[in-house]
Amino acid sequence: MSMAVAIVMLVILVIVLVAVAAFEGVLAWSLFVTEAPWVPLSTHGIAALLEGLEPLTSGAVVVELGSGDGRVLRAVVDRYPQARGIGLEQSRLLTWFARIRNRGRALEFRHVDCFRESWVGASCVFCYLLPPSMSLVANKALRELAADARVFTLGFPIPGLHPLRVIAHENREPCYEYRVGDMRDSAE
Ligand SMILES: C[S@@+](CC[C@H](N)C(=O)[O-])C[C@H]1O[C@@H](n2cnc3c(N)ncnc32)[C@H](O)[C@@H]1O
Repeated sequence: MSMAVAIVMLVILVIVLVAVAAFEGVLAWSLFVTEAPWVPLSTHGIAALLEGLEPLTSGAVVVELGSGDGRVLRAVVDRYPQARGIGLEQSRLLTWFARIRNRGRALEFRHVDCFRESWVGASCVFCYLLPPSMSLVANKALRELAADARVFTLGFPIPGLHPLRVIAHENREPCYEYRVGDMRDSAE
């Protein structure tokens, strides 16, 4: 191998290594540098939510805050075909992934900060976020949702409010259900 070919190969190798490092950096940033890191919801957690959602009326809109790879909303519309889902996710990469994985379903995935996007019109809002986000969820739900809308939080309750019900499958990750009208009554 001539010296020129060796230098060209070395340059190509360096470019590939830099590109991979940059991609990994974007990936790590996109997945983990958020208010709540991406932890996919377990099948137990999804089962608890699906039970809590029942009954879902025709045309119901389920909004997920931090929709990750879209597995939760996919399970929702597969179980309740009369519903549609909107996922709000701040990771661009996960939003792309969710869109690709769920093509053809009544689902929409938006790359947004869920606390800056409107929830108006949602019948149910679901989240699997960290405890500091719970009061943000409650405040926005009180401002924007109808009295008969329901809020489901997985793993962590909303501080200071009594849930309508707590559903847990196999004693794992409880799902807390709130009705917005009741939330307003207890906030007064
Ligand atoms: C615990 S994970 C839940 C993932 C999803 N339920 C799943 O099973 O794939 C939390 C998700 O919320 C997203 N997230 C955190 N804060 C957010 C915000 N303010 N707006 C939108 N998404 C947010 C994170 O990027 C992460 O994907």
